[in-house]
Amino acid sequence: MQELKTPCYIIDEKKLKENLTILRDLEQKSGCHVLLAQKAFSMYRLYPLMGEYLSGTTASGLYEARLGKEEMGKENHVFAPAYKKDDMKELVEICDHIIFNSFSQYETHRDMIQAHNTALNEKQKKVSIGIRVNPECSTQGEHAIYDPCASGSRLGVTKANFPDTLPADIEGLHFHTLCEQDSDDLIKTFHVFEEKFGSYLKSEQIKWLNLGGGHHITRKGYHLKELEDLISYIKETYQVEVYLEPGEAVALNAGYLLTEVMDIVKNDLDILILDASAACHMPDVLEMPYRPPLKDAYPAGEKKYTYRLSSLTCLAGDVIGDYSFEKEIHIGDRLLFEDMAIYSMVKNNTFNGIPLPAIVLRKEDGTTETIKEFSYEDFKGRLS
Ligand SMILES: Cc1ncc(COP(=O)(O)O)c(C=O)c1O
Repeated sequence: MQELKTPCYIIDEKKLKENLTILRDLEQKSGCHVLLAQKAFSMYRLYPLMGEYLSGTTASGLYEARLGKEEMGKENHVFAPAYKKDDMKELVEICDHIIFNSFSQYETHRDMIQAHNTALNEKQKKVSIGIRVNPECSTQGEHAIYDPCASGSRLGVTKANFPDTLPADIEGLHFHTLCEQDSDDLIKTFHVFEEKFGSYLKSEQIKWLNLGGGHHITRKGYHLKELEDLISYIKETYQVEVYLEPGEAVALNAGYLLTEVMDIVKNDLDILILDASAACHMPDVLEMPYRPPLKDAYPAGEKKYTYRLSSLTCLAGDVIGDYSFEKEIHIGDRLLFEDMAIYSMVKNNTFNGIPLPAIVLRKEDGTTETIKEFSYEDFKGRLS
């Protein structure tokens, strides 16, 4: 690690495979389909590997859908709150499931999908249409920003806005309500969903149910058996295919962000200036907010040396958190943030012209390969 240029994300192939194995076992035991939610982790160099374990990919719009098709080439699903007509022209060619957030979006695009499906021959797979519902069952406590069931949410159709009879070509229902949660919250949500929308599931028209993401399946202690039982119950009771589309769980704890201490300044406490930034390289730290795990570090005040970790940007609030260490920290030291594969590279930016971290793969045998380095051109190329 001393030889790597900082900042860089390091993706741990061994840990990723451990997660993928858990997800593949779940598919095999329960008969569900697990899709990678690319919004969390889109390191497509690893899509061929991930495709050996997972059923496919899900996307938040055209670009992710193209990436999933081009780089994994398995089942390819998409959900977006709204689609542009030009995008839909491409989506019908590359997606297996297209999920709408409203009946008006469905009506806007259904002719294009129908025309596409009608032109296919018997052997070709038709695009299957789904509707996202909002079961109005909040299980996330205070985290309204990540709660699609929070009051006034635009995500999913509520029961009050659902027709008694579904249009004949809608074959699937989708809900996504969780964030980093265990199976008990999913079970609770499913039962609320079932009470409100179970009658639609019973109709022969509905062929699949997508339970979204937010399932922390690969976290230690996750109640996997309860998830498997729920999936079996759904499949047996309603004769539908069940889909899960986790993002976090796929690459949970499978990545690091390596950074170097560039300076130490004093103002009541010692403040480290790092070449990594919360605002640029780990935006969830500020959005959630949360305190990322840091190797060999402890809560502030627990060990002898406490520091505030912050960055090179101009943003006063670009602070990662306060941590303590057994040893004094010096300029030039390297620090390793953990659990940095997810919602990091997909969200990063070049605010202040701060360079994007390189992407490094730590292979199973312990060797590293730098997959991608970024330069001034990457900063300039997005501006004009
Ligand atoms: C519709 C949908 N599916 C899947 C996911 C993936 O969620 P997670 O990464 O928490 O598993 C999200 C996350 O926002 C989502 O909005």
